Amino acid sequence: MTNRQIVIDYSEYEGLQELPAESRKLMDAAIAATETAYAPYSNFHVGAAVLLADGTMVTGSNQENAAYPSGLCAERTALFSASAQKPTQAVTALAVAGRDQKGRLTEASPCGACRQVLAEYETRYGNKVAIYTLLEGGRIRRVEGVKNLLPFLFETDLKPLA
Ligand code: THU
Repeated sequence: MTNRQIVIDYSEYEGLQELPAESRKLMDAAIAATETAYAPYSNFHVGAAVLLADGTMVTGSNQENAAYPSGLCAERTALFSASAQKPTQAVTALAVAGRDQKGRLTEASPCGACRQVLAEYETRYGNKVAIYTLLEGGRIRRVEGVKNLLPFLFETDLKPLA
């Protein structure tokens, strides 16, 4: 038996003003996208913004449904939309922000299913994705690569057919 550890690397920025211009733009877009959420059941509004290799930004927000599991998180809405519109462009960064029932900006860290979906894009395009999460108090966490959010993620040696 061997005990092992996994190291998770992340950085924290004190606020939006500390972010480099490009990631600031991305987080601003994620924050703006919280306004497009359809979240009448949870009243928790999430915005996400995806940056593609050609510089395109694609936003998404959570879309809920009366049949609860039929709804979709902001992150997957943005990622699937980006992939559907620009399938040849690698995903390079993702920003996520939450807005609570009182309209205050708050933390929204990607759920497990969205992390698994992100992992697929890292494999598909062969690069790590920089993931920015808005935290309580306006700080921002950055991780480089989904394995910092989802160690031991599901991987197979099955390859896409094309
Ligand atoms: N949600 C997201 O859209 N992204 C996250 O990172 C966490 C949760 C959504 C799902 C649901 O519509 C609402 O937030 C409350 O869970």
